[in-house]
Amino acid sequence: MTERLTIRRPDDWHVHLRDGEMLAAVVEYTARQFARAIVMPNLTPPVTTIAAAEAYRERIVAALPAGTDFTPLMTCYLTDAADAEEIARGYDEGVWAACKLYPAHATTNSAQGVTDIRALSGVLETLQRIGMPLLIHGEVTDREIDIFDREAIFVERTLAPLVRDYPALKIVLEHITTAEAAAFVTEAGPDVAATITPQHLHLNRNALFDGGLQPHAYCLPVIKRERHRLAVRAAAVSGSPSFFLGTDSAPHGRARKEAACGCAGIFNAPYALESYLAVFDEENALDRFEGFASEHGARFYGLSFNQGTITLERRDEEVPELIGAGDTAVVPFHAGQTLGWRCVA
Ligand code: DOR
Ligand code: ZN
Repeated sequence: MTERLTIRRPDDWHVHLRDGEMLAAVVEYTARQFARAIVMPNLTPPVTTIAAAEAYRERIVAALPAGTDFTPLMTCYLTDAADAEEIARGYDEGVWAACKLYPAHATTNSAQGVTDIRALSGVLETLQRIGMPLLIHGEVTDREIDIFDREAIFVERTLAPLVRDYPALKIVLEHITTAEAAAFVTEAGPDVAATITPQHLHLNRNALFDGGLQPHAYCLPVIKRERHRLAVRAAAVSGSPSFFLGTDSAPHGRARKEAACGCAGIFNAPYALESYLAVFDEENALDRFEGFASEHGARFYGLSFNQGTITLERRDEEVPELIGAGDTAVVPFHAGQTLGWRCVA
């Protein structure tokens, strides 16, 4: 049995670092495990300009513990008023690594998102031309559509035509949750990829109602039935370069989760690698972990691999019930559980 695994330093290709006190509390968890991270722009107000992205990047760097080697990669929040020229300039200047498309009202702080992606043809053409990735929250927002079907229908109605009409556009379908999304990405060419979160590998929708309503299992896209979890797992451990690590770590203070109308988001940053590795171990795919965590994403984004390594050991790691964050606290993913791997160096 493998007792120790050393891999090239990994990256997190999708994370919410927040701002202010929450940023100060959570950024160290991401920076401890990952060399780089794609930082989501869904602040209030959202990060839509080069100036806002530069200022946010500075706040992130200022919040890092001294001496931390961590690079935040910034994203541009697309609105109906997105300006192709500003986007291209920000990419050219190295401020932005990608654009993020939230369909309006799909999730947290997406009210200013895009109402009709096809109306953004100038932006889409620009992204395709300059090779800048488009990161997509892939859910339809029609409230008549069953929430468990919103991703699969998005793939069919929006993503498939988008890929057909912009064949060289680099697209990351973020936090995939369904067999349909995994199959679409598997069959699409090298310019379409997907990130996968730990929670969508560990949980099926029973977890939302296990002995009572479980707000800490609630995120968007919502976790799906078992057959989808198994399909997403198979994609993650397949070795396909189209699938890579993106935690979607999304902290909300405990009171905002344990509420009559609880926020969507799971805070998984503190034990992200341990959580993913448990899955690769269960699937007898430890040899595929480095590709998923440290190589596929960098290659897709056209970035160099990280220098240095991180080592995990087969050892019990107890996850605390709560992690302090300013004057609040956040319940981490796997709270109160014991994971079988631990980062040691
Ligand atoms: O669960 C989620 N939380 N999904 C998202 O898409 C956004 C995120 C957040 O920002 O809290
Ligand atoms: Zn997210």
